[in-house]
Amino acid sequence: MSTLDGAAANRAAMLERVAELEAALDQARAGGGPRYVQRHHERGKLLPRERIELLVDRDSPFLELMPVAAWGSEYPVGAGVVTGIGFVHGNPCMIVANDPTVRGGAVNPYTLKKTQRAGQIAAENRLPMVNLVESGGADLPKQAEIFIPGGQSFRDLTRLSAARIPTVAVVFGNATAGGAYVPGMSDYTIFVAGQAKVFLAGPPLVKMATGEESDDETLGGAQMHGTRSGLADFVAADERDALRLARDVLRRVASRAAVSAPPPDPTAPPPRHDPEELLSIPSADLRVPYDPREVLARIVDASEFDEFKPRYGTALVTGWASIHGYPVGVLANARGVLFSEEAQKAAQFIQLANASDTPLLFLQNTTGYMVGAAYEEKGIIKHGALMINAVSNSRVPHLTLNVGASYGAGNYGMCGRAFEPRFLFAWPNAKSAVMGPQQLSGVLSIVSRQAAAAKGVPFDEEQDAAVRAMVEAEIEKQSAALAMSGRLYDDGVIDPRDTRTVLGLCLWLASRREPPHARPEHAGNFGVFRM
Ligand code: COA
Repeated sequence: MSTLDGAAANRAAMLERVAELEAALDQARAGGGPRYVQRHHERGKLLPRERIELLVDRDSPFLELMPVAAWGSEYPVGAGVVTGIGFVHGNPCMIVANDPTVRGGAVNPYTLKKTQRAGQIAAENRLPMVNLVESGGADLPKQAEIFIPGGQSFRDLTRLSAARIPTVAVVFGNATAGGAYVPGMSDYTIFVAGQAKVFLAGPPLVKMATGEESDDETLGGAQMHGTRSGLADFVAADERDALRLARDVLRRVASRAAVSAPPPDPTAPPPRHDPEELLSIPSADLRVPYDPREVLARIVDASEFDEFKPRYGTALVTGWASIHGYPVGVLANARGVLFSEEAQKAAQFIQLANASDTPLLFLQNTTGYMVGAAYEEKGIIKHGALMINAVSNSRVPHLTLNVGASYGAGNYGMCGRAFEPRFLFAWPNAKSAVMGPQQLSGVLSIVSRQAAAAKGVPFDEEQDAAVRAMVEAEIEKQSAALAMSGRLYDDGVIDPRDTRTVLGLCLWLASRREPPHARPEHAGNFGVFRM
């Protein structure tokens, strides 16, 4: 096969994965389906994405996060909530919008994980948090899975406030029981007249508990909360008025959340090579490694990459570059496996990045650390541990992008999810698992062969082949990018052509620092108390 054929085949394979991603995104955008969407519109209400559009600056970018949460699970794709980073009066904000067309906006285990991750991103990057609330509260049949961990959402909201990161809740509809604490714990609250219903228990439960007769409006309407309980700071005439009021609040407070560098410079020198070619660089067959310098040449400013230790530990490429003007240190796997030299080079490079306060980008394409007697003797565990130590204790912001494979402890050394990178994205071709599907099914087969021999029973070759094929197919399915993103092991799957834009935005966000009034010696120890 000529190189051209290889590139064309790679591109075709990647476009197929991109089409799968688009199909999943369409599912998320469809919310609860036409019937529920139509009913919602007929009630004169806006959909979550329409609310977001009216909240953010016109024609500004919106980085949607975790859009395919719950993909491959029993729950609808998107998990009944839309979240992402949008701009309000030029300031980046974290937006979390319930989708009331999906089971009344009820919170299932994926919804919870998604919104809690959004809270973590807001805290780490000092982004004002805007909740667009309309939710039936806990998904009741699943309450056992969400009740206890759910408390963290309210804890995190007030901790944002204590860290002097503004929190705003706009209530469009139901916010019952636990849901009522979203406005309850927020710095600013805006309730839509005639729509907001915020109570610890709705009329039926109150009747059950105390025998008292009531109705939604008396018990938890916007007028009552705006004039009597004081839970509503502003009562809006309608949804559009509420979003206008939210913009007004954020105009005054959002820019005070952080000190940051100027936003990405659209005039920063673009790569000299066409980003479209990012589709044809990754091998269609993941087992065939490819040169990450080809990827970097299509992502970084002016395609300029100053490589560090280019002749040492060559299966890991390290070096310095900038993206939209933001300096970054890069660690990128070049030949799949990591050896002792690569691990040591990584540890040294991570220290250099810390010494110069430079954020790091990990481009994952690794099958893990090298195995075998010679490598054990040379201390591969010790050296892998050295690299994991450096990654775990590094203080500069980390961004991780899986551009191929991310297997075994290689996932850990290359700053996988457990190592808390600020943001973690994957390309649609990416895979992640404890090991490759063939290796995993092969290991299982060897283990059962040994077990049969130990018991002195004959080994059923036919059954073994069938089990191997089944396990291989299952692992292949579980390790695919959409399946990983569905489980919320990353912040989203991105089209390779968007990489530079996404990373530039994330590097800018990571440059945001605590302003003087938020330092512990100036800020109180508590979130703002609601009176
Ligand atoms: N848990 C599980 N499913 C829920 C739910 C919840 N908390 N809230 C709503 N749903 C389901 C409904 O059963 C319905 O399912 P179906 O269409 O398959 O029959 C679907 O979501 C839509 O609900 P519906 O009542 O038709 O929508 P609505 O827009 O008219 O009203 C609510 C939405 C949220 C006001 C209403 O469903 C409600 O009051 N839910 C219970 C709220 C509550 O008390 N929660 C306690 C939280 S701790």
